[in-house]
Amino acid sequence: MSVAKKQYKRVTVKSLVEMKSNGEKISMLTAYDYTMAKIVDGAGIDVILVGDSASNVMAGHETTLPITLDQMIYHASSVVRAIDRALVVVDLPFGTYQSDPKEALRSAIRIMKESGGHAVKVEGGKEIKESIRRILNAGIPVMGHLGLTPQSIYKFGTYTVRAKEEEEAQQLKEDAKMLEKAGCFAIVLEKVPATLAKEVAASLTIPVIGIGAGNGVDGQVLVTHDMLGMTHEFNPRFLRRYLNMYEEMTNAFKQYSADVKSVDFPNESEQY
Ligand code: KIV
Repeated sequence: MSVAKKQYKRVTVKSLVEMKSNGEKISMLTAYDYTMAKIVDGAGIDVILVGDSASNVMAGHETTLPITLDQMIYHASSVVRAIDRALVVVDLPFGTYQSDPKEALRSAIRIMKESGGHAVKVEGGKEIKESIRRILNAGIPVMGHLGLTPQSIYKFGTYTVRAKEEEEAQQLKEDAKMLEKAGCFAIVLEKVPATLAKEVAASLTIPVIGIGAGNGVDGQVLVTHDMLGMTHEFNPRFLRRYLNMYEEMTNAFKQYSADVKSVDFPNESEQY
């Protein structure tokens, strides 16, 4: 289907809902630093997610659990300084919103005040409903995240597809409805069957952005370092690699090393 695209000078939470109602798919990628965010924003990506996947990608942790609020604020403020157009959504890290709605609000306020991000993302459904309400009541836009929620990896035990069984699928549908009713502006659905994701997207007026959730949703998100092929050990079925940066960069570093050792670099024109 070809869709006449409305030009958005700045993407807002309202633009995303409008895109869904106009049938325009939403593009979203992660960024954790100024230089990457500048390129992603310049390419016209609609939403930049400062994901807690920074814990894996930037810091080398096995899970997203160790990253702190201060670290997320550091990454998010670097991203915000690069942006002209994209909506910047910042993950609330593990342990900063689950225990108490007041703490959740304090964490979200710190993100908004200290990083300049435009919205926060939280993982979970009915169990964090009160925290979501508090944050929304303070005027802070909230994106939900259902399905495979990496902050609960020790509860799940594996990173396999979620909600394949009827009971979990039913709970996910109820949680998605609850998030919309509470006032969330969008939901990320991670690693769930495509038919379920399509059904959820069709049942909501807010956009559903998928990762490993098929093409029946309202947009897609990937981790930028994965889609650029900078990481090469992570190979889920849903990941399309647009470059092989691991190989390109390795070759460049090898060539540089060889040039330094052979005194080919710097040459006459590269010195003062
Ligand atoms: O942290 C992250 O990068 C995410 C995406 C995988 C959606 O939550």
